[in-house]
Amino acid sequence: MSDFRVGAMPAVHPDYASTGRLDELRATEYRHLDEQGQVYLDYTGAGVAAQAQLRAHFERLGGTCFGNPHSENPTSSASTALVDQARAAILGFFNASPDEYAVIFTANATGACRLVGEAYPFRRGVRLVLTGDNHNSVNGIREFARARGAQVVHLPVRRPELRVPEPEVRAALERRRGLFVFPAQSNFTGVQHPLDWVALAQEHGYDVLLDAAAFVPANRLDLSEVRADFVPVSWYKVFGYPTGVGALVARRAALARLHRPWFAGGTIQAVSALGGWHVLAPDETAFEDGTLNFLSIPDVQFGIDWVGGIGMDLIHRRVRCLTSWLLHRLADLRHTDGSPMILLYGPDDTHRRGGTVAFNVLDRRGRIVDERIIARDTAAAGISVRTGCFCNPGAGEGAFEISERALRSTASHSLHTLDDYLGLLGLPTGGAIRASLGLVSNVADVERLVTFLDATYADSAPFPDGLKPRERC
Ligand SMILES: Cc1ncc(COP(=O)(O)O)c(C=O)c1O
Repeated sequence: MSDFRVGAMPAVHPDYASTGRLDELRATEYRHLDEQGQVYLDYTGAGVAAQAQLRAHFERLGGTCFGNPHSENPTSSASTALVDQARAAILGFFNASPDEYAVIFTANATGACRLVGEAYPFRRGVRLVLTGDNHNSVNGIREFARARGAQVVHLPVRRPELRVPEPEVRAALERRRGLFVFPAQSNFTGVQHPLDWVALAQEHGYDVLLDAAAFVPANRLDLSEVRADFVPVSWYKVFGYPTGVGALVARRAALARLHRPWFAGGTIQAVSALGGWHVLAPDETAFEDGTLNFLSIPDVQFGIDWVGGIGMDLIHRRVRCLTSWLLHRLADLRHTDGSPMILLYGPDDTHRRGGTVAFNVLDRRGRIVDERIIARDTAAAGISVRTGCFCNPGAGEGAFEISERALRSTASHSLHTLDDYLGLLGLPTGGAIRASLGLVSNVADVERLVTFLDATYADSAPFPDGLKPRERC
């Protein structure tokens, strides 16, 4: 039988010992985490940058003059060359062929979703099929679909693991054609949805947007095997720095089916002001509005090389071991009468899940402790976890068991705050707590969180004194 006492981790997970290289890096390249006493458990929010990434940025900018791309002059060409190299590095990261895939730089994953939503040929008779488990940046695509008369179909997550049953996916895809969107990994529960849904949907004539934002920081995504049509990603989630650069990795054939609703500087081949016509660029630049973030895009190439040097398989193994450890340690937290202290949302083992773990704390009478208390107390203890619904209302609605009927009924009320909404639904909580693990997480991070929860909430019935109203989801 396994031993989940403190200190038993290496014995429980022999694989963990093989990830020692990450402890060395934590002590050197990521030493700022420990120097500042940070317990960083929000890798689904953002990754952490290595000192080497920052050095590389300053060395590059201090050593060469870079001008605005889109010109033949030497400083402009210097920028263009690095942007092109970064595109190639991104294709390499996804093992994607340049003949099949294009890389479009965006500000973030959200920008990538919007590019698809605003240009997808939605119309009457076309469907947008979304898993209930989706980030709001993906959910928002439904507004483009609705505005153009397309049918929007949501596939709710089901308890206990908050997955979407495959028969329901198949049934939804059998009708009509359109766009199917789902996350490779949930940013709420850590659930990893089956990647073979991509081929399944394509066989039924659907294009597929696979949201990879929460998946790729600790998992390989091979686009030569999983041929998703549109893949949004935010690079700061993978390696912490730079912020402000994301990408839409898109199949060229699928891009050709999009119709951009406008043009802008950088996107056109030819245009006439008085003539009222324009011709979009024939390649991915047709989707890149205005001046690219040309001083930061080369940092993406450095980041990709950096994590490549560490090894995605090593990162994946580390995160898997620590996730298993965290899940077991949380399950072991008990009040002295033996009642559980933690209500977990999503899978309770590492099978088909990543390192994002959502839960609520229960008081000794089994009531959910207001997540704002946990937010307040963990912050005071220097622990970075996240609370709320993580911009993923569908996963939250499944986790908190809110019926579709109740949700539809709230649409007719004028609600000003999230608290109004929670009051109307009579919910016991406005959100969960999310701890997420990543590249340089270690056992000490997990232990700091678990021992803090134990010391602070075991046998207690905390009262929400002076908590501010919740503002938004
Ligand atoms: C699964 C998922 N998709 C999309 C996003 C949006 O990413 P960004 O805010 O960087 O655009 C996030 C952000 O947390 C996410 O977790």
